Amino acid sequence: MLRGKKIVLGITGGIAAYKAAALCSGLVKQGADVHVIMTDSASKFITELTLQTLSRNPVHIDTFDERNPEVVTHIHLADLADLVLIAPATANTISKMTLGLADDMLSSMLLATTAPIMIAPAMNVHMYQHPAIMQNMNTLVSRGVLMIEPGEGMLACGYVGKGRLEEPETIIRVVHDFFAAQQQREEMRHLMAGRKVTVTAGGTIERIDPVRYITNDSSGKMGIAVARAAYAMGADVRLIAGSVQVPLPEGIDTVRVQSAQDMYEAVIGEWSHTDIMVQTAAVADYRPKTVHATKMKKNDENLVLELEKTTDILESLGQRKNNQFLIGFAAETNNVAEYAMGKVIRKNCDLLVANDVTIAGAGFGTDTNKVQIYDAQGLVEDLPLMSKDDVAFRLLSIAASRLNGVSAS
Ligand code: CTP
Repeated sequence: MLRGKKIVLGITGGIAAYKAAALCSGLVKQGADVHVIMTDSASKFITELTLQTLSRNPVHIDTFDERNPEVVTHIHLADLADLVLIAPATANTISKMTLGLADDMLSSMLLATTAPIMIAPAMNVHMYQHPAIMQNMNTLVSRGVLMIEPGEGMLACGYVGKGRLEEPETIIRVVHDFFAAQQQREEMRHLMAGRKVTVTAGGTIERIDPVRYITNDSSGKMGIAVARAAYAMGADVRLIAGSVQVPLPEGIDTVRVQSAQDMYEAVIGEWSHTDIMVQTAAVADYRPKTVHATKMKKNDENLVLELEKTTDILESLGQRKNNQFLIGFAAETNNVAEYAMGKVIRKNCDLLVANDVTIAGAGFGTDTNKVQIYDAQGLVEDLPLMSKDDVAFRLLSIAASRLNGVSAS
């Protein structure tokens, strides 16, 4: 997986820098082409010669030590990288990255690169837990930097706690998994390119009167993750969003709707030219039978709202399905497998994603989900707890593979 991959390995100045030798050596043994940049401080802990010998490439420290007149080194390294890996990443380097400082070779290259960046922090436990560092790490993660969390244990400074650089073998495994996932994404892009994907997200709003309505806890995160994943895979995406509690994704063609009926009409409008329909929305099953034109007044001690069934959008799509690939979702609190199988058959879905919303980290409002994917034959995949983005990618990979008649794994 690492053969021929160009990895720029940034080593910064902490005692864990000595482990960078094993890391460099392990990456090279797996076939990676490793280019090392050290900070000045790192060179106090480990020598340039060690890394040069292990990587079999020149090691860079000083921004102005330009050895090849044909290139500007920090730009050249920024451009050639398939991955930039900073291990160990000190508190200072993390903070410089957050601020966008560029006062040495490593920080300049980091600003210039468009390659994915992965960092493995290592520092004293109190430094690691300092609010400034915590905030800076969160900022980096929100910008897409991949974090390899430090391990817990005895630290070189004598403290016991979190801050120890993750072991080189573990870092190599994470790098390996990163490239494996990237390759899988590329393969899936191929299968998904040009496909029309319609996704519904969020809850619906069923009006009682001009100032009151019935809705549910859906945040829209899962549906938006599906829309984003489909978009990233090269599909032509239309998002139909009800009530959502997160920003809508930029660049994706989005229609806003309120009620189950609005959503039904919007979905039907897309249906004939949809290849993959993902019905993630939490659609109201019932709506008030009468919608009052003016604000209802409180008169009686009790008030009975009469509700009527909404159209089951998924079920009606299942009835009119030709070549479309239809995916439903189901939030359950018990008997997940039994209810999921009932729904996949009754609603004629190709796949049904079921989650037990009583599990921590699954369901409404969370960034993660724990789902099982079913088809009419039974369980297709039981996924571990993972980010909604990863669930979305896995789900669409299965759909795209089935549509193209190839295996999804
Ligand atoms: N769904 C829909 N239209 C509705 C209700 C639900 O399209 N009016 C879709 C949801 O978007 C979801 C799937 O049906 O993809 C399952 O929703 P769920 O509420 O779990 O299904 P129900 O059939 O309503 O089952 P339950 O009796 O558990 O409420």
